[in-house]
Amino acid sequence: MLDVGCWLLDVGCFLVSLSTELAFTRVAGNLVSLMSNLSSDDIKNALKAVKYPGYSRDIVSFGLIKEANAANGAVSVSMLLTTANAEAAAQIKTDCERVLKALPGVQHVHVEVKQPAAAPGAAPAGGGAPWANQNRVPGIKRIVAVASGKGGVGKSTMSVNLACGLRHLGARVGLLDCDIYGPSIPLMMGINQRPGLSDDEKMIPPTSHGVKLMSMGFLLNDDQPVIWRGPMIQRTIQQFITVVDWGELDFLLVDLPPGTGDAQLTLCQTVPLDGGVIVTTPQEASLGVVRKGIAMFEKVNVPILGIAENMSYYTTPNGERVEIFGHGGGRKEAERLKIPFLGEVPIFTEIREGGDRGVPVVVSAPDKPAGQAFLKIAEAVKQKFS
Ligand SMILES: Nc1ncnc2c1ncn2[C@@H]1O[C@H](COP(=O)(O)OP(=O)(O)OP(=O)(O)O)[C@@H](O)[C@H]1O
Ligand SMILES: [Mg+2]
Repeated sequence: MLDVGCWLLDVGCFLVSLSTELAFTRVAGNLVSLMSNLSSDDIKNALKAVKYPGYSRDIVSFGLIKEANAANGAVSVSMLLTTANAEAAAQIKTDCERVLKALPGVQHVHVEVKQPAAAPGAAPAGGGAPWANQNRVPGIKRIVAVASGKGGVGKSTMSVNLACGLRHLGARVGLLDCDIYGPSIPLMMGINQRPGLSDDEKMIPPTSHGVKLMSMGFLLNDDQPVIWRGPMIQRTIQQFITVVDWGELDFLLVDLPPGTGDAQLTLCQTVPLDGGVIVTTPQEASLGVVRKGIAMFEKVNVPILGIAENMSYYTTPNGERVEIFGHGGGRKEAERLKIPFLGEVPIFTEIREGGDRGVPVVVSAPDKPAGQAFLKIAEAVKQKFS
């Protein structure tokens, strides 16, 4: 009886151990298959939960992850920061390890965080902004963005006239249309031509009025709707900078799309900007548009060159001055915020006509009041870098 009991016990144990073994094999198999299915993208997706210290954006969207692999229960991630801030690096490493260890089947985690050496005598990299050390673009001396917190205030009009104005003042100028959804530079510069291709497979930017241009408008067929997702926009803009043969430029102006949301922030982060011009209409200045523009540039460590007020007033044919949108809001806001005021541009029919005709007023009538208004702002921008 005892023997039978032992035998039964043995069989029971065997069955228990068999079922445990089977369960283990099943679970282990699941884990192995989960692990073997863990792709680089899966790892990056998981790491989107890690925010850059002090920012609401995650480390993946900042493009910090250089390598991500998984094999046999081990995940290995390599990232490159652009800041020498050791605190930020340590925090990112800890957060990444925590997130990766929580993934199913992951037993070992290796997170390598590389950083540039701190410059001797450099101030401690306080915020350590991830874009702080963006690569300069060889041949381009300065990149200046034209932005506003609002649509339709005349950013593109300002961009084309500033570009042509700086050209008029003798500078070598390029203009990059970052408005992927509604590119208006081809129309306003009077050119719609596919870029050529150089021997080293770079796009040769079409030139109009002496300014080198790149716009999504050159690459799309008319009226073709574009559905873009964030990373695609970022990659396209990056290529507009790096895969375009800009040659030697004193200024590359960047016409940003309307608003100061995530897309604009990403663009400012993608393009290594040397300064920003904020465009406002007089009444918008008091509505916080300027402050939004400033906050955006400050967030990405871009020096604000100043505010330009557009549509300041209108002069009727009999000489009467009408301040349709009020007047002076831009200057007042600039004084209040202690940033430079670059100048004002009145409403002139020829400005709108010039835009529609593809010949900016600075080109067609540089000596007339409208052209002069833009030239004054171009001079102020040029002055900032001399
Ligand atoms: N000072 C001005 N006088 C007359 N018309 C102007 C002036 N500034 C801009 N416009 C006209 O106003 C319209 C909007 O200008 P523009 O396209 O430059 O604005 P935007 O801020 O770039 O717009 P979006 O936010 O859509 O990119 C255009 O038709 C332009 O010709
Ligand atoms: Mg525009």
